[in-house]
Amino acid sequence: MTTCRICAGPVEEFFDFGRQPLSDAFPEPGATEPEFFYRLAVGMCPHCTMVQLMEEVPRDKMFGEHYPYLSSGSTVMREHFEKLAEQLRGSELNKPDPFIVELGCNDGVMLSTLAQAGIRHLGVEPSGSVADVAAAKGVRVRKDFFEESVARQILAQDGPADVIFAANTLCHIPYVDSILWGAGALLAPDGVFVFEDPYLGDIVRRTSYDQIYDEHFYFFTARSVATLAARHGLELVDIEPLVVHGGELRYTLARAGSRTPSASVTETIAREQREGLAEPATLRRFAAEVERNRTELVELLRRLRAEGKRVAGYGATAKSATVLNFCGIGPDLIEFVSDTSVTKQGRLTPGSHIPVRPPAEFADPYPDYAVLFAWNHADEILAKEQGFREAGGRWIRYVPDVHIT
Ligand code: SAM
Ligand code: TMP
Ligand code: ZN
Repeated sequence: MTTCRICAGPVEEFFDFGRQPLSDAFPEPGATEPEFFYRLAVGMCPHCTMVQLMEEVPRDKMFGEHYPYLSSGSTVMREHFEKLAEQLRGSELNKPDPFIVELGCNDGVMLSTLAQAGIRHLGVEPSGSVADVAAAKGVRVRKDFFEESVARQILAQDGPADVIFAANTLCHIPYVDSILWGAGALLAPDGVFVFEDPYLGDIVRRTSYDQIYDEHFYFFTARSVATLAARHGLELVDIEPLVVHGGELRYTLARAGSRTPSASVTETIAREQREGLAEPATLRRFAAEVERNRTELVELLRRLRAEGKRVAGYGATAKSATVLNFCGIGPDLIEFVSDTSVTKQGRLTPGSHIPVRPPAEFADPYPDYAVLFAWNHADEILAKEQGFREAGGRWIRYVPDVHIT
């Protein structure tokens, strides 16, 4: 039995993706070291409603010197975080000598704007390779996993934080209790903990099952986050829907009773209740849609292969590891995957062993079809890849359903 990481209740499994590799471990061609596999399955705790993975992958296997994900690879994401940094400067950080701590600052995509503005800040980032990129941009980085003990050390060295921020990071952390105790210790009396992560509501609505992989341990809802916060003397005081990464929510927590919660909190929780999100029947329907999506994608790729078409992948995303391994898609069906990350190029996709190539090779010559694995960056990618369409290329999409565009 898996016990809930939040409340120790029994987690009820609703989908098993089977054996999966680490989603961000791209082996070199010819590597002899065996890849690490674990069972990827997801369940819901009926007591606190938190949707979570059934098995935890040790954090050092996922994050460290070889972690290849660079946040600044997307123009839209760069702009998204520049906008947030400016927003914070004009609001929560608009006071004498403000201090902000970011968990998972990655290559400095958000903090570099604040560093340039001379705002006192600290990024906490365990993946050394990406932390070095942030440091080179003038960001002050501590190479560490944030947890309660680290929070207390930061408090002793730098004093309380007006803002603690985490994007696409809190949902990566099974030991979230330690993070929230730490945040509670580190926050100034009127400070806020702001975080944004993929929203279970969008995942269920769009059957975007590829959001489920080793690094995404939790799938938050307004209700589960409110419950989690309350267990730590914190309160969910604001929610903002975001369109990035296929649909996220930005949550703001404050010390319980320190701020008046905005209407968005009760409205979102009420909507989740009406829609039956995180109810067993809803999650069973989602599971059936996932099975259907797999069948249709595999049938389509097999048919195109039989017709002699060339099919590539676009974006060697962590998400694509779930799709490729769950669907059993390898180099027999997808010739190569194009990706802008130098950290992934020349390597093979985890478990499925499809070569990852730089974008220049995508156009040389264009394939007949491209599976859009980086579907969350669709607007940006479709705009810059108009040449592919003009050359007769077609996109294969699988979110929210399998179709060709
Ligand atoms: N914030 C960036 C963004 O939104 O693009 C990076 C997100 S990346 C998907 C997740 C980051 O969290 C990784 O850089 C990883 O090294 C970092 N991370 C994982 N566990 C962490 C922890 N306990 N404390 C701080 N960062 C952590
Ligand atoms: P993400 O969905 O986790 O942000 O990962 C996006 C991946 O797609 C990352 O490996 C970079 C890659 N990518 C491209 O290859 N081309 C692009 O235009 C964009 C935006 C991302
Ligand atoms: Zn629970």
